[in-house]
Amino acid sequence: MVLGQIIGGEYGELYVRQKSGQLIEIGDLLWIDDIILQVYDLAYGSLLEDTDIARMSGMQLEGYEDTSLMEEEIRNYVSAKAKPLVHVKDGVARIPKCLPGFFGTVDRVKKEDFHFMEEPENSLYLGRIRSGSMVLDVPVYINGKDALSHHILIPATTGRGKSNLVKVMLWNMVPREWCGILVIDPHDEYFGRNEVGIKDHPDARNRLMYYSPNPPKGGYSLRVNISQLKPWNLRGIIDVTDAQSQAMYIFYNHHHDNWLEAILTADAEGENHGIQGVTLEVIQRKLRLALDLNMVRGEVRAMGNIFVTHTNNDLVNDIAHALETGKKVILDTSSMSGDKELLIAGMITDEIFRRYKKYKEFGELDDKPTVSVVIEEAPRVLGDRGGRNVFHTIAREGRKFRVGLIAITQLSSMIPREILANMNTKIILGNEMKSEREAIIGSAAQDLSKDGKNIASLDKGEALVSSIFTKFAVPIKIDLFDDVVEREGTRRTKLEFFG
Ligand SMILES: Nc1ncnc2c1ncn2[C@@H]1O[C@H](COP(=O)(O)OP(=O)(O)OP(=O)(O)O)[C@@H](O)[C@H]1O
Ligand SMILES: [Mg+2]
Repeated sequence: MVLGQIIGGEYGELYVRQKSGQLIEIGDLLWIDDIILQVYDLAYGSLLEDTDIARMSGMQLEGYEDTSLMEEEIRNYVSAKAKPLVHVKDGVARIPKCLPGFFGTVDRVKKEDFHFMEEPENSLYLGRIRSGSMVLDVPVYINGKDALSHHILIPATTGRGKSNLVKVMLWNMVPREWCGILVIDPHDEYFGRNEVGIKDHPDARNRLMYYSPNPPKGGYSLRVNISQLKPWNLRGIIDVTDAQSQAMYIFYNHHHDNWLEAILTADAEGENHGIQGVTLEVIQRKLRLALDLNMVRGEVRAMGNIFVTHTNNDLVNDIAHALETGKKVILDTSSMSGDKELLIAGMITDEIFRRYKKYKEFGELDDKPTVSVVIEEAPRVLGDRGGRNVFHTIAREGRKFRVGLIAITQLSSMIPREILANMNTKIILGNEMKSEREAIIGSAAQDLSKDGKNIASLDKGEALVSSIFTKFAVPIKIDLFDDVVEREGTRRTKLEFFG
């Protein structure tokens, strides 16, 4: 059915006149001559002079004679601005390099127009093709193994469906052995402790691990032995001067895994490898505060329930091992301060990164799953604050070692441009803030310079996938997680999960 006709424009900015009785929306996909166009703006058009229009309106409003227009549907119309998105040639998607026929008529896209969309290897399902707000029954996949190691950014204003998207992605990755995922979960919303969640996946009992400071019966407890902490894990977590930082490294070099206990029990009056007494005292206080430790009769005592001095579990190595065997690990950090959360996340990520660098060196990387770390409010770790930490390092060079990030954020503009540009897949959900959209658009894999209004008008669960692994920025609708669980899940209580 004819939706409109091309009446002018240039490459990247075609004018389509909407047929009367039809409705073109922002984001709609149109089909003409094997080219898919996407509408990015709408305006009125009229054959009448402005003054005539104003005069007629005046007469109508003020109740003068009948002012109905002859052949109104010919004189007044809606004009849509559209850009070519993809050219389907011999069943293959290409970047469009020509204009569709002048005066040609455009249709709505149909399911059949997307025959060229194939399911890639190691596929990760994201959602279904969306034309404006209409959903087509065409699944959209990316090569998950590649996309995860090249980082995924999920930017959106609050409430637009970031968490829902991550749940849907995690759900689909549970059975996949080609990826290990670490989820740092500050809202304890992914496992589904008291509602539906990833635990309801049919394969979850073998493939999902849940750590919490207060785990349900049978669950793993999130406790870290302080002997596993290394000085570099504290970068960006506690503010230290150069001298204080050096003091930690000096102790580490002398005492290895015992450095923390050694530095905390050191007598400020003593020799202390040449470190000044005041420096030592300050760093001791900062460490005690950051880690909830206290000194009782010359011994280090844990005051909180997260950093402890005695535990049989080797949390960091256990989790690193689980990840490199393709498991999904959720850490409930909802009861922790942000700093403790990032400290633990950093310790595990650091261990995984260290291991993967070694695998690469020994040529063993190809046998390992890609590992990805899901991090909420990503500017906390990727922002400029606190200098370089392991997340910066991974954002910059993780792809070489197949360790990636899934960074969730409301504030992309707080992430340095270079890092944003390194996040090679962006699943962009709705965002009203122009400055945020500009940061995202400016670092996207495709030219999204015309997509500002498109992104602003995205409803909950509607997204634009811009990736170096897709031929064009693909508009999708993400499934609602609850529907996915209803369809594919096995509802269990948390006790059934661990039982
Ligand atoms: N794909 C979707 N389809 C339909 N509704 C959705 C979809 N995604 C999210 N929603 C609705 O929007 C609500 C908010 O979604 P969600 O919690 O995922 O947003 P968020 O971006 O994570 O928000 P916040 O910034 O507060 O964490 C959900 O409770 C759900 O009702
Ligand atoms: Mg959320």
